[in-house]
Amino acid sequence: EKGKFKHFMMKEIYEQPTVTLAAFQDRIQDALVNERAFGEQAAAIFDQVKQIQIIACGTSYHAGLIAKYWMEGLAGIPCHVEVASEYRYRPVVIQEGTLFISISQSGETADTLAALRDVKDQILASLTICNVPGSSLVRESDLCLMTNAGPEIGVASTKAFTTQLVCLLLTTLVIGRRFKITEALEHQIVESMMLLPALIEESLQMDSDIELMSQAFAEKQHSLFLGRGTLYPIAMEGALKLKEISYIHAEAYPAGELKHGPLALVDKDMPVVTVAPRNDMLDKLKANLQEVSARGGELFVFAGCTQKVQPGEGIHVLGMPDMPEILEPIVYTIPLQLLSYHVAVLKGTDVDQPRNLAKSVTVE
Ligand code: M6R
Repeated sequence: EKGKFKHFMMKEIYEQPTVTLAAFQDRIQDALVNERAFGEQAAAIFDQVKQIQIIACGTSYHAGLIAKYWMEGLAGIPCHVEVASEYRYRPVVIQEGTLFISISQSGETADTLAALRDVKDQILASLTICNVPGSSLVRESDLCLMTNAGPEIGVASTKAFTTQLVCLLLTTLVIGRRFKITEALEHQIVESMMLLPALIEESLQMDSDIELMSQAFAEKQHSLFLGRGTLYPIAMEGALKLKEISYIHAEAYPAGELKHGPLALVDKDMPVVTVAPRNDMLDKLKANLQEVSARGGELFVFAGCTQKVQPGEGIHVLGMPDMPEILEPIVYTIPLQLLSYHVAVLKGTDVDQPRNLAKSVTVE
């Protein structure tokens, strides 16, 4: 079943050009998102949405964090995101017109499901973005958008995450039409999405470079991941992947927080990974990067405009393909998945079944 791959995780990483395409192509009609893909009552519900509450755990939570940037930044829809295990155990204020969106690969995560059940009577409606047909979240939500990634066997989530992002972008567009998103912008984003499979394919070709890079991590105890904007949750996701399968302590920080504490940790034993695509934040990020290299830290920068970040002593630049900004969080995920995979293989850990973890957490 693993075909030419040694592990399910690698097979699933390589499926991403195909499954991300599957997650959007049937949902597009005349270069616009077809809202019926979300369910019969979708249009009537979306018409009444005033804000969004996203709930999820783990990797699915990271997808939710990116959706917040899209919902608020592109569409102007107020959007809150919280991990299910916190949300369900605190008194919450639910405003009128709240669409509750759960994100889950399995559809069976106990905390996510409990959070939905607890607020059912207070919300406008519920939508789940889920990978398992017929799962509890799918059955109990008013609307659903399946990620269609196919079974994910590796405990470390990969293709479920990138397809969740595709689905969340579709969701931003359909609800965003009722807010700030114009037809022209929707067309433009849909067109950009068509580039996604090829861009993922291209970033998979970095595999051997990343395998080489993984040697700098295998003997380390700690690592730092930095990002800004939508790439901050991607740094979080990269750190989670590394922790899960290689057991190396990895912490993610918004790049701008570096000076507010974590910089004290940086030395030659703490490699720093930065996701820094071409965008207006790059100049600020560059200042942060200089702080790290000045302290002897080894820096690995994934950047889209190599001419702007100069490689130097202790600074390794990994060039990413040029791409529309909207696709950056999806495409920049790929090299970080590959990095965690290769570090784990070097360390000889059980890639598909990391210690202490289960594929789906159905008890608290
Ligand atoms: O099935 P779900 O998406 O609800 O699962 C949520 C988390 O348990 C899951 O993403 C976990 O963090 C993964 N092992 C991450 O790789």
